[in-house]
Amino acid sequence: MSDEERPYSSADSNPALKRVRIRHFARAKRTGIKITGLTSYDFLSASIFDDAGIDFLLVGDSAGNTVFGYDTTLPVTMDELVPLTAAVVRGVKRALVVGDMPFGSYENGPDQALETATRFMKETGCHAVKLEGGVRSYKQIKRVVRAGIPVMAHIGFTPQSEHGLGGHIIQGRGEGAEALLADAHAVEDAGAFAVVMEMVPSEIAGQVTEELSIPTISVGAGPNCDGQLMVWSDWAGFNRGRIPRFVKQYANIGETLLEAAKTFRQEVDEGIYPAPENEYGD
Ligand code: KIV
Repeated sequence: MSDEERPYSSADSNPALKRVRIRHFARAKRTGIKITGLTSYDFLSASIFDDAGIDFLLVGDSAGNTVFGYDTTLPVTMDELVPLTAAVVRGVKRALVVGDMPFGSYENGPDQALETATRFMKETGCHAVKLEGGVRSYKQIKRVVRAGIPVMAHIGFTPQSEHGLGGHIIQGRGEGAEALLADAHAVEDAGAFAVVMEMVPSEIAGQVTEELSIPTISVGAGPNCDGQLMVWSDWAGFNRGRIPRFVKQYANIGETLLEAAKTFRQEVDEGIYPAPENEYGD
């Protein structure tokens, strides 16, 4: 969302500071204002992204990879995500915080989905939840939304189904376009306030964006979506491993930390640190 259109200012002292709400997502769609989102898993990064005016923070199940070091997002649990989400909520004043429902916490049906979403809202203070799947998650989304909990849907490549999909494969290509459109319409009909589209060709992502009245958020779905979301550790170069083609690296935090740690080690070895200004007197 552009500065003029923001319903808030991120400056602490500004009395006009306002929480981003799902109605601001709807307004962004209507007016063509772009939405920005980043993942966040802790208090400090959340407060920085909030100050920068990022519209929503997703406490993604990507924490399974980035925080806990699992190979995939599949093992991460609610018990692991709840404290991270609560910390992110404590770090923001205006960004909308979305808790990501982990694998195994909603597939059983609408009752299980509502139970998980309710736990997120009660124990973390987050403002919305996200879950994966289009047509297959229709009933879950509907039940959670009916209970008054905003749902961000997630279609295209859905990492929790990585094995079922046969790996990290671009979705919605060729004959897959029809299934993608069906998923997109299903989540809109179920009441989702926005839909993340991951690893989808730009053209079909543009068609989905035109056909839906809710905002589409791209994670590797190109420029034709209503907003952009990135995993912050990829985006800031904290992750020094493989990063997907769609990621633009906006910083090189990993290298900066590596150099800082090497310098610290060397300065302690050489007696440069602590210097007199780092000591307490009597
Ligand atoms: O967990 C996550 O970070 C996500 C985004 C990649 C959409 O689901």
